[in-house]
This record gives sequence, structure tokens and C-alpha cells, in this order.
Amino acid sequence: MISNESIEQLKSRLDIIDVVSSYIELRKSGANFKAPCPFHDEKSPSFVVSPSKQIYHCFGCGASGDSISFVMDYEKLNYPEAIEKLASQYNFSLQYTQASKQKKHSKLLQKLSEYYQTLLTHNNQALTYLQERGIFESSIEKFELGYAPSSNQTIEFIQKNMFSTAEAVELGAIGQQDTRLYARFIERIIFPIYSVSAHLVGFGGRTISGHQAKYVNSPQTKIFNKSRLLYAYHLAKQSIYAKKEIIIVEGYMDVIMLHQAGFTQAVATLGTALTSEHLPLIRKSDAKVILAYDGDNAGINAAIKASKMLSASGIDGGVVIFKDGLDPADMVHHGKSQELVTLFRHAHPLIEFVIDTIILHYDLKNPKDKERALQEVLSYLKTLSPLLQEEYQIYTASKFGLNPAFVKIAKSGNMNKTDFKSSYKDIWELSIIKTILVHPEFLNQIIEVIDPGQFRFHAQELALAIKGEVKSSILMAVLVDDEIIPFENYEELKKELATFLINYYNKEFNKVQLQQDISFEQKAFKIRKIRDKIAILKKGESNKEN
Ligand code: UTP
Ligand code: MN
Repeated sequence: MISNESIEQLKSRLDIIDVVSSYIELRKSGANFKAPCPFHDEKSPSFVVSPSKQIYHCFGCGASGDSISFVMDYEKLNYPEAIEKLASQYNFSLQYTQASKQKKHSKLLQKLSEYYQTLLTHNNQALTYLQERGIFESSIEKFELGYAPSSNQTIEFIQKNMFSTAEAVELGAIGQQDTRLYARFIERIIFPIYSVSAHLVGFGGRTISGHQAKYVNSPQTKIFNKSRLLYAYHLAKQSIYAKKEIIIVEGYMDVIMLHQAGFTQAVATLGTALTSEHLPLIRKSDAKVILAYDGDNAGINAAIKASKMLSASGIDGGVVIFKDGLDPADMVHHGKSQELVTLFRHAHPLIEFVIDTIILHYDLKNPKDKERALQEVLSYLKTLSPLLQEEYQIYTASKFGLNPAFVKIAKSGNMNKTDFKSSYKDIWELSIIKTILVHPEFLNQIIEVIDPGQFRFHAQELALAIKGEVKSSILMAVLVDDEIIPFENYEELKKELATFLINYYNKEFNKVQLQQDISFEQKAFKIRKIRDKIAILKKGESNKEN
């Protein structure tokens, strides 16, 4: 592993303008530099690079980060690869550390996995089961399938091989209740789960004896994060890049059977939804996403959610929903691989899939229903890029049997609070937020007096700033926006906060006075509380001025 020290040294030598302009042409614009974004298709430059903050942000697609993440995304490299690339460009020699702790960790899992694999080769019941499901011996090897024995046997194996049980607990291989240890995987077929960088990080296990829980997965650990991992990604990666396509399914069995049928670009989520944490990985390959889900309610709902998220993130792809209770594994097993080729080729495009399934839930013959359906579609369309919105207005209009112009008018006429919020910049709120970003040392004092609920327009940004999620795209946008000026020192900030809060409580005061649905006593009580707050704030402020 590259030592942290040398990563820090390298970082301190990097200049973002230097790094980015070795890939794309930058133009100066005020204190920043601009270019058409290299991460999405555009003509006008919304990609801003800030030399003072050493970050970039695209106001079009939300891509943002520092020198290293730029190289990672542009060159499609992982973190250490990007570091090595930059080091060679800058003639910097990196220091490497010896066998890391992480390696030792995966050694335990690796040994355990080998043990499970050996047990499978001697277990006729399990082998017969896999054979009956149509799994080839070559797949058992490729996917390193195993079989977990009784709880005691697993624990004995760990202790005999001098691994510490504490470590095994930490890695989720065994669990602990009070002083009692138990294996997580008992008498199950084992599916080893690898990280993107091909380290063994956990297991999935399927019962073959009708145990209540059909599948058990490793719990969240330091190295096993279900919402970020995709099963078999390390095996599929090359094919995903070559075919520019990634097939995402729900089950481990689906992945294995699809690979067997030649769909080597197939991966699966780990019994959880596709989340935004999966997006960087998907984006990197620039691949089209095919969601291939079961036709039950759970599958359809998961497909809708995933399609909304992917399309809102500008990712292209489509959906295939399997009918008659079949899943991809069954299709391959029943000799329907050729049918799969056709299904994947004619996948229902993500955006159309979302629009069409929304419409399915309404009766368009009923005008009220039709109106509601249109509203739901329009509020989804607003999450898309302006170009796609335009494009799909026409599609929507035709689906509703309406004139496209009407769909458009309905859209702007329908402007609600959230749309307003997404485009409107409240400089006062944003300045407070930027102050937190630039002066994290003020954070404690700020959260003592203010909470995100008091922000009308940028509550989300404030919440993220308080959580310290400085790398989030919307905070990056705040950082590089030169219109937003942070408060210079704590005194100035305090004064601004007091004024802000007085303003806030005055508005609350007016609201309470107009409130109809509370008793006179309640109202009087609320008004008194707000008056007290304002008085305290005003006193604080005048103290300052004296
Ligand atoms: P399915 O029940 O669709 O699995 O769950 P499957 O792959 O079709 O199962 P087989 O074919 O009967 O073996 C899909 C995925 O959901 C997770 C697993 O990751 C599984 O692969 N799952 C399912 C669980 O985590 N726990 C469960 O009890 C069931
Ligand atoms: Mn299934």
C-alpha cells in the first residue's frame, strides 16, 4: 500500500489547474477557470475549477472533487492507480508500506473461503443441489462457491489456524452474543463477495435445507458495505468496459447463470436496493445499465426506484422485468438464453419505464386521475437534465394524448416550492453555510444557535455542512461559487447569525399570530417564547455594539 505520508506529500505538490489543464483546455473566468464539462455532454462551459479551493465542480452534472478524483474519473482509475499516475507525471517517488492490516484481515476471510470451498467438493448434497439448479462445475470454480459447515466447525477452524476470534467477529465471519460465539454461516452454500479492487470482503450464504432465512449475508463491517458493493463486479469489470453495458440483477444465482450463458457483464446488488453509493462505480465505466429484475412487486418497485435514481444522475439504460415468476437464472436454466439476448437488447428505456409505470397506476379516462398522473410525471421530469426534460415532454404529451405545448405550460404553471428552492440562491443562508465550510472551527458555536429547520432555502446544504460532508456535490458548488462570500471572523458571523435569527423569529411571530387552529392560551405561550428569544438576541447584539 502507498503510505499516507507520501500521498499527502504528493497532494501538496499538485495544483488542480495544472492537473486538469493537462487533460482539457481551461479558460480564466474571474478568480476561477472554466471549461465545457469533460464528464457530460455540453456546449456551454459549466465546469468550474477553483485554484484557491483546489477543487472542481460542474454545475451541469454535479461532478466535483479534487486533483486526484479528477484523474480517477477522467482516466477511469481507482484511487491508488490515480496516485501512481500523478506521481509518475510529477516525477515523485512514492513510499510503500509493508503488508497492511487490511491484507491480514482478508487473509482470514481468504483462508475461510478456501476451507468452505474444500468442504463443498466433499459435500454431495450441496453439489447435487447446485447441479440441479444448472450450475456448471466451471462456475463453482470461477465464483469460488463453498459450503459452510456447522457453527462449531467454523469456529474450530478459525481457532486452529491461529486467527483471533475477535478479528473474525470484526469481519462478520462469526457473531458474538455475550460470551457465546456462533458462525454467521451455518450449513449453507457460500458465495464469496469481493470488493471492486478484488479483495474478499464478505460472504453470502444460501440454505439448502429450507432454513427460514433463504439467504444470509455478512453484516456491515469496516470492509463490507452492502450499499456500495456489487456482487461479481471484479469478474465482470473487463466485460462491462468492453461491452459498455452492465446488467444488474437481484440475485447471486442470477449472476452466475448469466455469466454461464455468456452475459459476463452481469452483477448483483446484495439483497439491498441500488443506492447512490453505487453510482461512482457505474459512472466510471460509462456503461449503459440494464436492470434485470423479478416481476414481483418487490422487483418492480426496486426497478422504479433504481430507474429514477439512474436517470436523474444522467445515466443511460433500460429495464427488463421478467414475467411468470421467472428470474434470469430460471431463464438460462430453461434454455432461454437466446430470448434473453432479445430482452436485453429491447430493454424498456429507463425514463420511459418510469413514465409508463406512473401512468399504469392511474385511470387516464378519469380527468382528475389524468391530472394527478401528469403532475406525478412532471415532477419526475424535473429531476432530469433540461435537454431530457424537453425531449420527454413530447413523449409524455403523446402518452397523455395532449398537445406538447400544453405539457410545457402545465409544467411552469405548476412551479412549486421545491423547484423554486433548487434554482434559487439565498445568499444570506449560503454565506453562513460557506462560513462553516471555510472555518470549520466555528461549527460548534454555529450549531448551538441554529438548526437546518430554520433555513428556508438551503436546509439540506446546512445539514450536510454540519455533518462535515464537504465532498458532497452541492457543497462543492457552494465552495466554488464566488458570489457567496463567507464571513471573515467569528464576531462578524455572530452578528449575522443574530440578525438572521431575529428575522426568523419575527416571521415565526407573524405566523403564530395568524394561526387559527390553536387555543388562545397556546398562542399566547408561543408568542411569549418567541418574544423572549428575540429579546435575548437583541440584547446580545446591542452588547456587541457597545
Ligand atoms: P431471491 O429470493 O430473488 O433470490 O432474492 P434468488 O436468487 O432468486 O434465490 P434462489 O434462486 O431461490 O436461490 C434475491 C437476492 O436477495 C437477497 C439475496 O442477495 C438474493 O440473492 N436475499 C434474498 C437475502 O438477502 N435474504 C433472503 O432471505 C432472500
Ligand atoms: Mn430471484
